[in-house]
Amino acid sequence: MTIRPAGLEDLQAISRLRTQSILDTKQNSYSRRQLQHWAAVNPGQRTRQRIADDCVMVGSQNGRVVATNSLDLDGEEMAGMFVLPALQGKGLGRRMVVAIERLAVQFGMIRLRVEAAAPSVPFYRSCGYQPPPGARLACDPRTGLDALTLWRNFPKRQTRYGARVRRVLDGIGILPDYGRRHRLKLQKECRQLATIGEDIHGREQLLLPEAAMAWYAMRNAAEEEGVKLEIASAFRSVGYQVSIIERKKQLGQSIGEILRVSAAPGYSEHHTGRAIDITTPGSNPLEVSFENTRAFEWLTESAHQFGFRLSYPRNNRHGIAYEPWHWAWKSH
Ligand code: DAL
Ligand code: ZN
Repeated sequence: MTIRPAGLEDLQAISRLRTQSILDTKQNSYSRRQLQHWAAVNPGQRTRQRIADDCVMVGSQNGRVVATNSLDLDGEEMAGMFVLPALQGKGLGRRMVVAIERLAVQFGMIRLRVEAAAPSVPFYRSCGYQPPPGARLACDPRTGLDALTLWRNFPKRQTRYGARVRRVLDGIGILPDYGRRHRLKLQKECRQLATIGEDIHGREQLLLPEAAMAWYAMRNAAEEEGVKLEIASAFRSVGYQVSIIERKKQLGQSIGEILRVSAAPGYSEHHTGRAIDITTPGSNPLEVSFENTRAFEWLTESAHQFGFRLSYPRNNRHGIAYEPWHWAWKSH
């Protein structure tokens, strides 16, 4: 079985797998009425949302979806786990649990909960999930099944980088669940960087070599069409992002205000060497009015041809203010 993130094209296969595994379960301790109720619930909209958050995984064999599991960021929850009945008992479910725990770690999480329907409790216990003291089975209104809430802490699954970011956040007063709440994954600091020349302030700027090549190609293509693209910022280390936030704090801004505009250290796309803040002569850098320039119009039409996309459109799911200037190369 190969495990990969689900796309919207997997929706139908996920829904079919779900219905099949509910109705053809080997664990026959559900009543017929319970199973029908559960199968009839339509989680389509919820699954769509989770796919948009990169939070659904599917396991496939010979191109067929045979297992799925997902991460609910709001609920700190592993949910929607199904394995094709014919393949149950072969360890696929356990692999899907690990896949979701690894995904959670990418969002900076070190614990998860699961609402386990009664017959699945032994399975989740064997994966390290435990009920809090005194917890009892209760009807889960979403499924109509008796379920028990179980939790697992997995601080050891964290990467060294994730642990470092947690310490940095703690040091500047940002809550450790930042990634989960903002639907942002940890962004690793790029080590191999290439110059892209000077920004508008005369500072040398760097990008990942492949992103630098794509930037040069895009800038030259724009120039040929009479559009001048200039750099306001590119690679930024975690330490540099901390200094930006500290400076804003000293100017009297609250953490909430700052995080509308700056990503928390460890979560900025600028760490990856793939993100670039673009400006153009006559426009104030890093201001929304950039969207009224010919440069922005050109980028909107053409940037995708060079692998760049706008990371923070209006009303984006990360709670970050609209940034028409921030473009990232192959960030997905
Ligand atoms: N301004 C963007 C969100 C960043 O700080 O990465
Ligand atoms: Zn930016």
